[in-house]
Order: sequence, then structure tokens, then C-alpha cells
Amino acid sequence: MSTILISGGTVVNATGTMRADVLVYEEKIVALLEPGNSSLGAITADKVIDATGKYVIPGGIDAHTHFSLPFGGTQASDDFDTGTRAAAWGGTTSVIDFAVQKYGERVEDGLATWHGMAGGEAHIDYGFHQIIGGVDEESLKAMETLVDEGITSYKLFMAYPGVFYSDDAQILRAMQKARELGLLTMMHAENGPAIDVLAAQLAESGKTAPYYHGIARAWQMEEEATHRAIMLSDLTEAPLYIVHMSAKQAVEQVAWARDKGKNVFGETCPQYLYLSLEKQLGAKSAEWGDFEGAKWVCSTPLRSEEEGHLEAMWQGLRTNDLQMVSTDHCPFCMKDQKELGRDDFRAIPNGIGSVEHRVDLLYQGVVDGRISLPRWVELIATTPARMFGLYGKKGVIQPGADADIVVYDPQGHTSIGVGEGRTHHMNMDHSAWEGFEIDGHVDVTISRGRVLVEDGQYHGAKGHGQFLKRDLTQYLV
Ligand code: URP
Ligand code: ZN
Ligand code: ZN
Ligand code: ZN
Repeated sequence: MSTILISGGTVVNATGTMRADVLVYEEKIVALLEPGNSSLGAITADKVIDATGKYVIPGGIDAHTHFSLPFGGTQASDDFDTGTRAAAWGGTTSVIDFAVQKYGERVEDGLATWHGMAGGEAHIDYGFHQIIGGVDEESLKAMETLVDEGITSYKLFMAYPGVFYSDDAQILRAMQKARELGLLTMMHAENGPAIDVLAAQLAESGKTAPYYHGIARAWQMEEEATHRAIMLSDLTEAPLYIVHMSAKQAVEQVAWARDKGKNVFGETCPQYLYLSLEKQLGAKSAEWGDFEGAKWVCSTPLRSEEEGHLEAMWQGLRTNDLQMVSTDHCPFCMKDQKELGRDDFRAIPNGIGSVEHRVDLLYQGVVDGRISLPRWVELIATTPARMFGLYGKKGVIQPGADADIVVYDPQGHTSIGVGEGRTHHMNMDHSAWEGFEIDGHVDVTISRGRVLVEDGQYHGAKGHGQFLKRDLTQYLV
């Protein structure tokens, strides 16, 4: 199919909305046409998609996923095949996954492993950030090769001692290097050593249920680490991006830094906008008892709705103190995976699967009047593109851009979950979003001119997705 005309829709970009027909030729958007202009001259589209009454938006970019991540003695249950297919169902046409280097391993080897896992498997385009889980002379040297590899951002962890953890001295040295190279430092900001003490004390006193994961990972631990990361970034003049933020007080730290003109950015995730310590982490069920909450064990943890953390995330999105919403998609099944921590929350593999639902979940912010239509598009596609060196190719409906397009039906409806009549394509035996009813529906997903989803049917294939070599940006988004 070489020419597609998407007619009658409302094109929504981060800059605003307009009525226009969108013409796609092969992999690119080639024109925005006056609506209803049937006299296309010599052009006759091979395929016409009627988008009357619907939004035509850039495909979603999920800048934080963990396909096949080895973690907690097991491996994330979605790989690049199942995970990117689920993403496409939900209107996401690009992901940026984290290649992993751990202490004692070589960065080059971690990266090669990730290329091996994604190449020929992904249904949509994909890029990588590099996790540096062991900052030493060798990995600092290896950072110098990342830009040439098209990897312009890397992640450090102030949590998970013995696994991914970096101490302040290591962080300082990595940030100095990042400043020199122009890389963006992404930070898992939680005080891991202190959390591990609190977690051990809780477990030893018999408090072993998933709920206590949220108690051990107290908001003070996120606020403190966020502040420490900001000061190290300030000192080294290395731009900083705090990942998966959930604490109100940590967002206040980011807001404070931004008000002072510092290059600090914040990301939250759908789970921190909608799910809570009280309702989900503390849940009980007939099947699992109080272990039900394991479905929502992730880090940073779900926080108290009563304490106002969820509302603060929405507010951060409105004030642009938070610029990004990614999923931190890191799925584990209950059976044989989350179950590893049946007797001790510390052994539950951390993570929630949401790659399929981010576009829909954020659209509820439009429905509820919390964010505007253009802000929705900015959050799901445009800012991730600008932040991570993809803008122009991705993140916008305009001539010259890749034809990564979603036709979104605001009158449609999506029931999320693994239950009868519900939508769930991720490789998990449960959904963290079971029972969520969405106003809106992804009708069509197009990736570089190929229709992946239409009329409830899947037309994509593994291997269609290409590696995205990303450019350096100025990190002034
Ligand atoms: O719980 C989480 N977030 N799992 C994925 C690993 C990480 O820290 O991002
Ligand atoms: Zn993290
Ligand atoms: Zn993550
Ligand atoms: Zn529909």
C-alpha cells in the first residue's frame, strides 16, 4: 500500500488542532490537505481511511520500557515481539527501551544483547537508553561510544544496592562525563541503602505483605534522592531527567530546580496518576489474599491518595513541572514471577505493565478537563520526541515526518483487562488496569505507512520496527 489518505479528521498536534486530510506516501506524511478536497489532481490514494469525527494524532512514543528485563531472579514477561505488538494495539508507534549493563559487565556487551533481542522482533520503531549499573573506569570510557551508537541518554540508579546502584561518587563522575559528551542523565531517585534498612526492619517484624513495599519506600526517600541528584547535576552542569516520579515532595524539588532555571526534567507514569497505596497496593482478593497487592509492586511505589500524591502528579503535568509520562512498562506474571515474593515483599519483582494503555489512560485527562487535547498529544508523543532527539521524524503530524499516525475515536470505548470482552494484548496473566473503562478508542495505528491496527484486526508483523539512532538535543524542552 503506497498511498493512504486519512480524510475528514481533526489533526491534533502539540501546537493546536486543525481540520485537514493527511496524505501518506510510502513511509512518510507528504501533505496536509484542505478537508474534503476530493480533487487531488493526479493523486489517487490506494487506500482511504475515513476519520470523520475522529482525531488524527502522531503515534505515541513511550520513552520508558523494559522488555525482557532480567530482574529479581526472573525476566520481564513481554519481549520485543509481544511488547511492541501490545504497544501498537494501544496507539504507540515508538518505544525507547533500556539496554542493561550491570556491575562487572561491559557496556558494549549489554548494548549488543539488546540489539540482539530487538532486531527482527519489534513491530514498531525502537531506540535505547543505556543503563549503567556499574560506574567504573571502563564504563566511563564506554560512555564515549554511545553517541555514535545513537544513544544519547543513560540511566543511573540511586536504589537497588548490589544490583544497579551507584553511590554519589560514581554519580558525580558519570555526570561529569555526560556533561562532556552531551548525554542526558536519567535518574532512578530513591535512597536505596536507607530503603533496604526500612524494608528489612518491616520484614523482620512480620510485615511481609506487598503493602509494606510502599511503606519502606517512603516519600522522604524519593524527595531526598531527587534533591541530591539535582545538586549533583547543578554542580556538574549535566542535564537531569528524573524517571518514574510519584511523590508530591519530589515533584516540588523538580519545580524548585526548574524555577531556578536548572536543566531538570520530571517523568511520571500512568500508575502514579491513577493507582494508590490504599486501593491497589493494599488490595485483597479471594484468589491471592493480601498478596493481591503484588500486582502493583513497582518502584517508585504507588503512593497515598489521601496524602495528595496522585493529584500532585496531575498538577505537575498542568504546570509543566512534569514534562513526561512514560509507562516504565516492566511486566511480571503473578504465577511463578510475582509469586517469588509470596512470603516477603522484598522478593517480588518490581514492575507494572502498561505499554498498551498509556494513550488511552492519558486521554481520560482530556475527558475530565484536566489537560487540553494538544497537551495530551504533547505528553504522549511530542515531548518524548523532542526530549530524546526524534522530533520532526516522530512526534508531529507534518509533511516530511514518518507516517506514524493514530486515528483516535473520542466516541469509542475501551474496556481494559484480561476478563471477557476486555482488551489486553500484553504477555501477562493479569492486568494492573483490570476494570478500567476508557472513553475513547484507538481505531487505526499506522507505523511508517504500514497499517498495524484497523477495525479491531492486527496487520503488523515482527521485524517491521527499525532501530532509532537518536540525535543529541539541547535538553531545554
Ligand atoms: O518497578 C520498576 N520501576 N521496575 C523497573 C525498573 C526500574 O527501576 O525502572
Ligand atoms: Zn527505575
Ligand atoms: Zn524503569
Ligand atoms: Zn472505534
